[in-house]
Amino acid sequence: MRDKILVIDDERMILELTSLVLSSKGFEVTTVNNATDGYQLLAQDSYALVLLDYMMPVINGLQALKEIRQRFPKTYVIMFTGKGNEEVAVELMKAGAADYILKPFSNANLVERIENVLRLRDMELRNQELMAERERLLKEIEVWNRELEQRVADKTLELERAHLEILQAEKLAALGHMSAGMVHEIRNPLNSISLFAQVLCADLGEDPEKFSYAEKIIAEVERIDGILVKLLATSKRSSYQLRSLHIEDVVEQSLANFSGQCQAQSIEIVRKMAGNSPEILADEDELGQVFSNLFSNAIWEMSEGGQLTVNVDQNDRELLFSVEDTGGGIPEENLGRVFDPFFTTKENGTGFGLSVVLRIIKNYGGRVSVDSRTGQGTTFHMAIPLV
Ligand SMILES: Nc1ncnc2c1ncn2[C@@H]1O[C@H](COP(=O)(O)OP(=O)(O)O)[C@@H](O)[C@H]1O
Ligand SMILES: [Mg+2]
Repeated sequence: MRDKILVIDDERMILELTSLVLSSKGFEVTTVNNATDGYQLLAQDSYALVLLDYMMPVINGLQALKEIRQRFPKTYVIMFTGKGNEEVAVELMKAGAADYILKPFSNANLVERIENVLRLRDMELRNQELMAERERLLKEIEVWNRELEQRVADKTLELERAHLEILQAEKLAALGHMSAGMVHEIRNPLNSISLFAQVLCADLGEDPEKFSYAEKIIAEVERIDGILVKLLATSKRSSYQLRSLHIEDVVEQSLANFSGQCQAQSIEIVRKMAGNSPEILADEDELGQVFSNLFSNAIWEMSEGGQLTVNVDQNDRELLFSVEDTGGGIPEENLGRVFDPFFTTKENGTGFGLSVVLRIIKNYGGRVSVDSRTGQGTTFHMAIPLV
């Protein structure tokens, strides 16, 4: 069976004639004598073509043509017009008719016109399908492209981060190597200086001025020794003991050491800890050092008062915690350097605090990052894998 054709004409003769001719050519033909019935049939079934009379009572052909083209864009329309109506043909074509046939027509002419329009329709519909397919493929490619770009960007960022971490680890390792040797070499003569100064002290009891010099020597030697011990701590793990603990307990112990200083500087301590974090396997003193280094930096920055916030949280893989202050913040140009050993902006700073924090968190397979805006404060974020 070939395409379905609907004939809409108020003349019964035309309906019968076209039906006969077109059926004999193998088309499936339906006829109705008014446009309203025609719409109904078109809505129920898909027709390739409508033969539509221009001169009809009630709903005229032009109006019906426009409606059919609008509601059923895949159905093409050939108009019948009477002789003497040629000037409306232009208007009909503009309104979307595929062709027009002047009545009376010859059978051969009717069939030929229909065949032409159906061929054209096939091509146009196929073309539309191809365009739609092309559009769809282009969109798909665009989505893939965007995904790819995103993945490349993510990977690049990941690599950069990994690279920075390796650099940092190498720095710490090199420093550890050097400092271990250096500290050993320096501490021996230091020890001698201290001992001799102590001998002097014993002899200088009569001369208070000289006695005080000797005492100053001893105190300074102790200060140097303290720095050397800290230097060792930045790069080398001292003996440690892992046990199950709640990080909140470590936080509280560490906070207790700073409560006097916070009070004196009008710093409010804010705890954002639900108190139900999972236990982790860690060395208490080591983790305590992380917090005391972060707290002492934060408190240093808030000499005019402020807020010290400790946040403990978790996701399904990691224990997350952060230390936040409302101090002066870290200038952007320093953000990449604060974890470097020896980096300090303080007159008497050592620049060891954050490198110790980094080393310890790394020991637990974790991550540290910093968020800071000048004048608004600083947050250090830590994550340690659970298990
Ligand atoms: N909470 C903070 N707010 C602003 N700057 C900070 C903070 N913590 C660290 N810094 C900056 O990082 C530097 C390095 O810190 P750290 O390693 O602890 O060494 P130190 O405290 O001896 O300077 C500090 O000198 C300071 O410039
Ligand atoms: Mg510090």
